Amino acid sequence: MNPDTVMPDVEALVTEATNAIAEATTTEEIRSVGAAVTGKKSPLAEASRALGQMDPEDRKVLGQRLGEARGVVEAALESRRDELRYAELAAEMAASRLDLTEYVPGSVPGPMARGHLSLVTQTRDSLEDVFVGMGFEVAEGPEIETDWYNFGALNIPPAHPARGMWDTFYLHLGEPESTLLRTHTSPVQIHLMEQAVLNGTLPIHAVMPGRCYRRDTPDARHLAVFHQIEGLVVDRGITFADLAGTIETFTRAYFGPDIHSRLRPAFFPFTEPSAEFEVTCAICRGEGCRTCSQTGWIELGGCGMVDPAVFASVGIDADEWTGFAFGFGIDRCAQMRHQIADMRALIENDVRFLRQF
Ligand code: DAH
Repeated sequence: MNPDTVMPDVEALVTEATNAIAEATTTEEIRSVGAAVTGKKSPLAEASRALGQMDPEDRKVLGQRLGEARGVVEAALESRRDELRYAELAAEMAASRLDLTEYVPGSVPGPMARGHLSLVTQTRDSLEDVFVGMGFEVAEGPEIETDWYNFGALNIPPAHPARGMWDTFYLHLGEPESTLLRTHTSPVQIHLMEQAVLNGTLPIHAVMPGRCYRRDTPDARHLAVFHQIEGLVVDRGITFADLAGTIETFTRAYFGPDIHSRLRPAFFPFTEPSAEFEVTCAICRGEGCRTCSQTGWIELGGCGMVDPAVFASVGIDADEWTGFAFGFGIDRCAQMRHQIADMRALIENDVRFLRQF
């Protein structure tokens, strides 16, 4: 047989195949083009089959040409397949992207809703205002503390129940010191006194608001993450009368004239003497209800004269300086001021509730 009669035009086959490949516009199409140009029924496969009828010389030449042709076609196929795959993926990603800049004023029915500070933040701000008006400065401290700042320096002994696993979120237990999420803002007192001693800037008149953490099961008056505001005065000649007067002035300024405060003897390791600071329950006006456990009073926090043991732990001379401290719940204040029966509403993020403030 004359080999020229069966010798296919390999160049033309390659051109035809690569044109078809270039014309494919989807990964679906490239799959069928691929089958058509390299599959069993493709012209290339047919040409390979024809090799069998050729004499050895021609078979060798054509075989080599066909091998090269297949290489070229397969490379073109692969690169087009990648191109299309990438383009489709990019289109898919662009289509599913959420365009947060797309809001056009007037395109949403009604006026654009504006958020506002949360009630707890508003309450913290107005408590700060009251105390700044009384001559206090505002300070802050870390939320992660060592057990020395949260307990030890505050004269809370190692066996005190507050240190127990069931009251405190520990981050690291052990040597050289445990770290924990502060259970109250009282450790900020220690930071302030240390700084004042270091810089020689006593006296101190400061309030310290901040977030605190306890392993409490949330109920009408408790949250596991809550807020306190701490107060500390260290000066010469400070007495319990200064403390009582400060508490009374604050209560009137913040809650108004129909809410009263009372101090009841209590114990805190870092103050001596100590008292619990309570205000009239604003929900029932003192009659007794679920929120105040039928007592008519809500405990806001504790207070007292700074214990000499605390002064000793920061190196303040208790013969020269005296002081008082207090600490109470910011969330509780918001609850009383706005008569919120259940404190859990503060963290449930129900817009119908939050919008009221
Ligand atoms: N840290 C106490 C608590 O969280 C409250 C407290 C009591 C703060 C007496 C004080 C204080 O500054 O003097 O229960």
